[in-house]
Amino acid sequence: MFLALLVLLKSCLVLAVNISHIQYGIYVPQPTSVAVSFTMQFSIDCNECLCTATSSNTTSYAVVNCQKDAHWCSFYSVLTSNYSIQWNVQGSVYFLQSFPMLSTSIPQTSQPTTMYVSTQAPLSNVWIQTNNMSVPRIGHTSTYIPETGNVLIAGGENQSSLELFIPSNRSFITKGSMTAIRAYHSADRLNTNLVLIAGGTTADLYDPINEVINMTVNMSRYRIRQKSSVVNISGTVKTVLSGGNYYAGSLVYLSSVDIFDVPSNTFTMKNISTPRFYHTSTALPNGNIVIAGGSDATGGNILDTLEMYNSSTNSFVTLTPRMSYTRYYFTATYIPSIRSILFAGGYISANLNSYDLFNVTTMQFVRNGTLRYARSTHTATLLQDGRVLLAGGYPQMNQVEIFDPSTFTTSIAANLSIGRCYHTATLLTHSSQVLVCGGQNTVGYLASCELYAS
Ligand SMILES: *[C@@H]1O[C@H](CO)[C@@H](O)[C@H](O)[C@H]1NC(C)=O
Ligand SMILES: *[C@@H]1O[C@H](CO)[C@@H](O)[C@H](O)[C@H]1NC(C)=O
Ligand SMILES: *[C@@H]1O[C@H](CO)[C@@H](O)[C@H](O)[C@H]1NC(C)=O
Ligand SMILES: *[C@@H]1O[C@H](CO)[C@@H](O)[C@H](O)[C@H]1NC(C)=O
Ligand SMILES: *[C@@H]1O[C@H](CO)[C@@H](O)[C@H](O)[C@H]1NC(C)=O
Ligand SMILES: *[C@@H]1O[C@H](CO)[C@@H](O)[C@H](O)[C@H]1NC(C)=O
Ligand SMILES: *[C@@H]1O[C@H](CO)[C@@H](O)[C@H](O)[C@H]1NC(C)=O
Ligand SMILES: *[C@@H]1O[C@H](CO)[C@@H](O)[C@H](O)[C@H]1NC(C)=O
Ligand SMILES: *[C@@H]1O[C@H](CO)[C@@H](O)[C@H](O)[C@H]1NC(C)=O
Ligand SMILES: *[C@@H]1O[C@H](CO)[C@@H](O)[C@H](O)[C@H]1NC(C)=O
Ligand SMILES: *[C@@H]1O[C@H](CO)[C@@H](O)[C@H](O)[C@H]1NC(C)=O
Ligand SMILES: *[C@@H]1O[C@H](CO)[C@@H](O)[C@H](O)[C@H]1NC(C)=O
Repeated sequence: MFLALLVLLKSCLVLAVNISHIQYGIYVPQPTSVAVSFTMQFSIDCNECLCTATSSNTTSYAVVNCQKDAHWCSFYSVLTSNYSIQWNVQGSVYFLQSFPMLSTSIPQTSQPTTMYVSTQAPLSNVWIQTNNMSVPRIGHTSTYIPETGNVLIAGGENQSSLELFIPSNRSFITKGSMTAIRAYHSADRLNTNLVLIAGGTTADLYDPINEVINMTVNMSRYRIRQKSSVVNISGTVKTVLSGGNYYAGSLVYLSSVDIFDVPSNTFTMKNISTPRFYHTSTALPNGNIVIAGGSDATGGNILDTLEMYNSSTNSFVTLTPRMSYTRYYFTATYIPSIRSILFAGGYISANLNSYDLFNVTTMQFVRNGTLRYARSTHTATLLQDGRVLLAGGYPQMNQVEIFDPSTFTTSIAANLSIGRCYHTATLLTHSSQVLVCGGQNTVGYLASCELYAS
């Protein structure tokens, strides 16, 4: 009789997968909660299965013992009220109906059964909670590792630790440490076996497949708050770490870049036109890098200027066009479909709501406009469909908008579950979802992360 509830189907059938042998144990309910567990057998491989259980004020996930070959996944949660269950199987979403709060009269374990569950459209425009990182992090880095599908989270204020985000169970596992505490550093994936984690006096060469640091090299000079870009010029991979500032009795501003060269694994320093911090650095498909805006000194100029690293001549040139506003704490995102860089938001005496679009074919600004929200210290992430996700911002914005290059306008998207700034945002190309992690709001530093399904 209870099983009959399970077979209720959503009306909008799109696709179907068979789910059989559902076993659920119901443990003795507390006065205001109930512990439930489901084990399901899917008719397809389920190596990317995830279950979400939602009750009136609880959302929790856990997938334990997801056995791909046997097509089994099981799930356990403590819920506070009537609840609904949703399985995520290989990127598609399978809803089970909402269930009434279970009573003690339900047997603890039912017999296996067979059922047929249908899909709804994939999750769209939602933020999904993940488990928390091991520690709150601000000034950390977040680097997608396509070979494993995991995300490497490194450092942050007072932290040397590394952890990996595992998409299959939306959890983190701690994985050793860098050789130094690093915050406001950079981490770039240069090739299959190398993530360059650089900041302070040294850089760690991390092997994301073997999950170890294989080598530590000296940088040309002490540097933090640099911006980094990676270019590949006919097989020569160069990482350009530009600008930055740090405190050494007084603030030191950097008008130089450090260029890391593979395979020599060495750094070489070059000058740029002006100190820049909280600027942007954007790699272009032709191997050049556009460096823009930022500030040149405390209380000093906020910049509207651009300069470009020409990788074929290994030199910097100052560009004539300027942004329509001076900007720092802003974002720059190269949008391939319109061969343009989107410079968005920033801060002067308040958050800015403007954007500038720079065409890298003509090397001219072609458009400017307004965002829905003024923002700074937000993130901008190129989605796989070519739009740009702008999320959060100072001091604790939860507002999200998406820039559409076909209309040059933004549309409002679902809010982050909490306001945050100084967070990271990383596209997981495997699932097309964006992982947002850490940062801060007025309550404090954040260990929490969330995933956006566009
Ligand atoms: C689901 O089960 C039905 C009935 O047993 C079967 O005809 C169908 O092929 C199955 N579908 C999948 C995706 O395994
Ligand atoms: C939410 O959960 C808390 C603690 O689990 C409970 O005390 C409260 O009554 C719940 N609120 C609602 C609206 O269910
Ligand atoms: C829980 O489900 C029961 C039975 O479907 C329903 O009568 C009740 O109103 C629901 N409670 C809430 C809080 O939704
Ligand atoms: C993450 O941490 C926050 C703040 O400490 C806490 O409220 C939240 O419940 C945690 N989330 C999970 C999934 O543990
Ligand atoms: C790091 O340590 C400094 C000095 O103790 C402290 O002011 C700062 O809040 C810490 N940062 C984090 C993220 O805990
Ligand atoms: C998530 O999966 C990883 C890798 O399989 C595992 O090491 C970790 O313990 C899992 N975490 C949780 C909370 O289930
Ligand atoms: C890094 O070290 C590990 C363990 O010593 C080794 O297996 C791996 O091949 C090394 N990776 C690189 C890129 O040298
Ligand atoms: C790196 O810097 C340290 C500290 O300044 C120095 O002792 C060491 O010799 C340097 N290593 C190389 C390879 O230059
Ligand atoms: C760099 O480009 C070359 C082709 O020019 C390609 O073979 C190589 O895989 C690229 N390296 C990386 C790390 O993308
Ligand atoms: C870079 O700038 C520094 C300080 O202004 C100067 O001493 C040095 O000669 C410059 N280097 C080059 C290659 O121009
Ligand atoms: C910004 O847009 C206005 C009108 O929309 C235009 O007059 C101005 O030239 C643009 N500025 C830049 C730098 O593109
Ligand atoms: C950029 O310039 C190219 C070449 O003139 C042009 O085809 C393209 O439409 C321009 N893009 C935008 C967004 O203006």
